[in-house]
Amino acid sequence: MKYTHIAGTGGFLPEKVLTNHQLEEMVDTSDEWILERTGISKRHIAEDGQTTCDLAEQAARRAMEAAGKGSYDIDLVIVATTTPDQVFPSTACLLQQRLGIHGCAAFDIQAVCTGFIYALGVADNFIRAGSARCALVVGAETLSRIVDWSDRDTCVLFGDGAGAVVVEASDEPGIISTRLHADGEYESLLRVPGGISKGFDKEAGMGAFVEMRGNEVFKMAVTTLGRIVDETLGHNGIGKSDVDWLIPHQANIRIIKATARKLRMPMDHVVVTVDEHGNTSAASVPLALDTAVRDGRIKRGETLLMEAFGGGFTWGSVLLKY
Ligand code: COA
Repeated sequence: MKYTHIAGTGGFLPEKVLTNHQLEEMVDTSDEWILERTGISKRHIAEDGQTTCDLAEQAARRAMEAAGKGSYDIDLVIVATTTPDQVFPSTACLLQQRLGIHGCAAFDIQAVCTGFIYALGVADNFIRAGSARCALVVGAETLSRIVDWSDRDTCVLFGDGAGAVVVEASDEPGIISTRLHADGEYESLLRVPGGISKGFDKEAGMGAFVEMRGNEVFKMAVTTLGRIVDETLGHNGIGKSDVDWLIPHQANIRIIKATARKLRMPMDHVVVTVDEHGNTSAASVPLALDTAVRDGRIKRGETLLMEAFGGGFTWGSVLLKY
């Protein structure tokens, strides 16, 4: 049996920080409201001209260094992003060029906040099928570019960043299972309705920014993530107490706490970065993983449950032995 093993992790956040107090100057909100309703106190924002690929490159270099891998080792590049640098080539191809990787498959995945979970699921299948041996999997976003900074319902929630892992074929587990889902029925609850084909008018703010029915998304996220926890444990025949760490998508501390309760996981075994990063969409899970690996909380051999929920709706989980 061949497993997909995480050989190294990396993360990168742009230097510029936007605090809740700074947001108070921009929209009718307060630090107290944002903290209480979301758990977010600050988020990082890319500078003008700093792109998703710029963030992805730094995270990828750190993951490759941690894994002890060079550009010649990588034979698959996947970037999960909703905010690519350009229409084409894909951000994965742009990243490949930056890193001096030539010839292997490289493509983007668009599953919004579940993007990294999808990307890891695809990489796992490539590796287990023998189609790749060592993959670079990145979640990277400049969500700030598609946020309406005059809309208090959404602008307080999001931030920019990138996280990456290098995964390789191994005889030791490894990724144990990936569960990926989507239901396009809920498109209208969370979306950026404009696009290349439909068109949008960024100046007029028509269709170019995140639109969200927050309360409905919140309820769906809580019930769906509760279900994915049960599904993942049931599918693998393992109990709640077998999971050492929950690494959730970082959208809202109240959603995270509800999932932790479902898993009967004490909060000191839940990786929380939403307070410092906000919701970085596809970057949030790999950034949280990298944070807890680098500060020594997550150790080799421990069992991790990663989960995410996002626009689509999309949702999914990855269960693995680190
Ligand atoms: N500052 C102050 N007040 C705000 C506000 C802000 N930034 N944003 C909304 N409000 C107000 C609303 O206008 C509303 O006022 P009203 O009662 O006078 O109409 C009130 O706060 C409550 O709004 P509501 O939307 O019911 O709050 P909530 O408890 O659901 O929290 C979210 C709002 C967005 C934080 C929450 O719904 C959420 O996190 N949703 C999921 C978001 C998410 O995860 N999205 C991405 C999925 S990947």
